[in-house]
Amino acid sequence: MGMMGLRVVALSASPRGERSRSKKLLRSLLDHFQGHETLRLDLEDHDVRPCIGCFTCCREDRCPLDDQANLIKERLSSADIILLGTPVYFISPPAQLKAFLDRTLDWAHRPHMFGKPVAALITSAGCGEDTCSRILKFSAESWGASWAGHVHISIHEDPDGEDVGERLEAFAARIANAHRQLKDHPPTPEPGPFHRQVIEPVIRAHPDFFSLDHSYWKDRGWLEGCSNDK
Ligand SMILES: Cc1cc2nc3c(=O)[nH]c(=O)nc-3n(C[C@H](O)[C@H](O)[C@H](O)COP(=O)(O)O)c2cc1C
Repeated sequence: MGMMGLRVVALSASPRGERSRSKKLLRSLLDHFQGHETLRLDLEDHDVRPCIGCFTCCREDRCPLDDQANLIKERLSSADIILLGTPVYFISPPAQLKAFLDRTLDWAHRPHMFGKPVAALITSAGCGEDTCSRILKFSAESWGASWAGHVHISIHEDPDGEDVGERLEAFAARIANAHRQLKDHPPTPEPGPFHRQVIEPVIRAHPDFFSLDHSYWKDRGWLEGCSNDK
């Protein structure tokens, strides 16, 4: 695929074990990255509890919930390319994946994944993949990463069929291309519109409560150029 020594990490969100289509398809997608270091993570094998909204991750860079969310976060952080495989549940990712995404609030406050493509493989019975994709895109961009798009495979399609195979191959090529573009033209590590509109005002309004975030932003020069800078 013309890339050397990449680390591709694929997180599968379906709770259905070996019966899962999205997991099977995610594996097929990952097969297109042969020759690279690939890692498959099944969310269902990990203990990831829902966020309790204490903001400790923003304030102290740690989470009081003693589970495996951090392990997954470390794996994703170490990736060059992140793939998310998920079914649609009520036009969104399943609660298990949403719980994990909520646990990345510190990444939204202190984005660090600049230049990293994130792509999703979504399965559904035919509705809600656009909303689901939007949630995943929002998450990726909140981490500072670059959204490389999604591929949707419906339950009415044959996962072993030629058509699906071709779409997965094309999608893998698109992801590899996104990675190449980001390598050739690395984006400036800076807050995006979401960070500017949502995170920055909160950090500015509560610099003592969010002192860790505040220093993170200040150290990177992200708080410069505004009259009420603290
Ligand atoms: C709780 C639940 C909610 C679902 N909600 C939707 C939905 O909103 N839209 C849709 O098209 N399919 C929905 N489905 C169907 C799944 O998205 C579909 O079966 C998917 O392919 C399962 O993926 P998996 O085999 O990887 O688990 C839902 C299924 C379940 C169990």
